[in-house]
Amino acid sequence: MPVDVWHADNDGYYDSQRPSYETEGPSSRARFITDADGRFFFRTILPCSYPIPTDGPVGEMILQTRRHPMRPAHVHFLVNAPGYEPLITHVFIDGDKYLDTDVVFGVKNELIAKVEKRTDPTTPDGKSAAAPWHLMTYDFRMKPGEGAAPKPMMAETEDA
Ligand SMILES: [Fe+2]
Repeated sequence: MPVDVWHADNDGYYDSQRPSYETEGPSSRARFITDADGRFFFRTILPCSYPIPTDGPVGEMILQTRRHPMRPAHVHFLVNAPGYEPLITHVFIDGDKYLDTDVVFGVKNELIAKVEKRTDPTTPDGKSAAAPWHLMTYDFRMKPGEGAAPKPMMAETEDA
């Protein structure tokens, strides 16, 4: 089953917000295929909280309401499985200081994942770790049904 994953970088920007996107293409996003039990694993950076763009009417609204423009750190997921409705969601990192004041009101308690700081010399995928690392685990619950998945986030190759 395919799972699309994407998140901001460690400066709080998505790849498409970077000038380098035109020449270097996507980053901090990928499609994974689960194993037969629906599990998948990947290594990435620990994303950070970030401000939404404030240079348009939304920014003016935020200014007028005296709210900050910050989103708590999170990772986006698009999960598809036969017999289930496609699930598009994001999972937030427990402990982020903006969890209670997300500028777009997207946080729900069930979307917050614990992130453990680990010092084990080996990560779960069997690779050696030269520095402390973090482990985030999350169980997705999907609603039975059918539905068309949204257009994939990654560009398709011509022979796909
Ligand atoms: Fe986001």
